[in-house]
Amino acid sequence: MAPLLTTRELKTFVVDEGHGVKGLSELDIKTLPELFIQPREKRLDMSKVVHHESIPVIDMSNSEDLDVIKMICDAAENWGFFQVVNHGVPLRVLDDVKDATKRFFSLPADEKKKYLFKNSPTKSVRLVSSFIPEVDKVLEWKDYLSCFYVSDDEAFAFWPSVCRDQLLEYMKESEPLIKRLLKVLITRLDISKLDETNKPFLMGSRRMNLNYYPKCPNPELTVGVGNHSDVSTLTILLQDETGGLYVRKLDTGNWVHVPPIKGSLTINIGDALQIMSNGRYKSIEHHVVANEHENRISVPIFVNPRPSDVIRPLPQVIERGEKALYKHVLYSDYVKHFYRKSHNGKDTIDFAKV
Ligand code: OGA
Ligand code: NI
Repeated sequence: MAPLLTTRELKTFVVDEGHGVKGLSELDIKTLPELFIQPREKRLDMSKVVHHESIPVIDMSNSEDLDVIKMICDAAENWGFFQVVNHGVPLRVLDDVKDATKRFFSLPADEKKKYLFKNSPTKSVRLVSSFIPEVDKVLEWKDYLSCFYVSDDEAFAFWPSVCRDQLLEYMKESEPLIKRLLKVLITRLDISKLDETNKPFLMGSRRMNLNYYPKCPNPELTVGVGNHSDVSTLTILLQDETGGLYVRKLDTGNWVHVPPIKGSLTINIGDALQIMSNGRYKSIEHHVVANEHENRISVPIFVNPRPSDVIRPLPQVIERGEKALYKHVLYSDYVKHFYRKSHNGKDTIDFAKV
């Protein structure tokens, strides 16, 4: 039986003591506490979910093939979201990082507590419940460990040892895929190669999150992650077999499910690439629904510009005669803006609009 806690005590238990939403879920509560009951407009509108469509699934085995190149660029323009199979990241590496995620979240609260922002000895690692618990009026049904890659030495010193090696391996093994995707995508922006002149702002930094969505007694009343777009250039997402990620279609505003496919990775365009491509590639709203019966994990790699980069529509795009839709923005300011407010659809990008 769950002890009766006030909302304030509950928030302390979840957010400040290392128990997380997972710890609450494990108390076997039968109804969702008010702290997590989202207003109707923040929940996924099930009447807008369509079942007869889904995001493209692209086989990358022959990624030099012109048809494949076209499929990738078309998917990035029309959907902003697609899955890739035969992507070259070994399945063993993906399995290992999923196991590592489960290992981290299985640690006792006292151990996990060390990674809360207030206790963590480094700014590059933080354990969080909800999205921004200091700002979110209603909490999201999710815990996540966020690791910003600074260097191998920094990771060895500060990342949790139960998942560090697997995360680093996942990051390194996914690098050829990331480069291939970016190289393909920039061809349509009239940029012929990925090199030192563009790599820093296309893929100059990485953040990896270990997401944990515990079983939820009333998933229909809350959200795993509310509607948002990512602030990355590209996001590479590994999800387990549970499902629950929904993507908003550009043309109709309806939602489609991203079905788990064994061994696949889900790719999405983030705000930074929407800005750099001057709106040609679209960063798309997405949402995670909580699950009544299963704990779900996912592991996104956010491929980002460096914090010190100024992002803007690329000169090659503007030279073609397009009018710039976005201003020059310091990437760290853009990210700060994202982390100032709760998830609210695609409104972050307004910060960069002309
Ligand atoms: C995210 C995200 C989706 C998922 O972490 O930004 O959208 O399936 N995650 O967990
Ligand atoms: Ni996201």
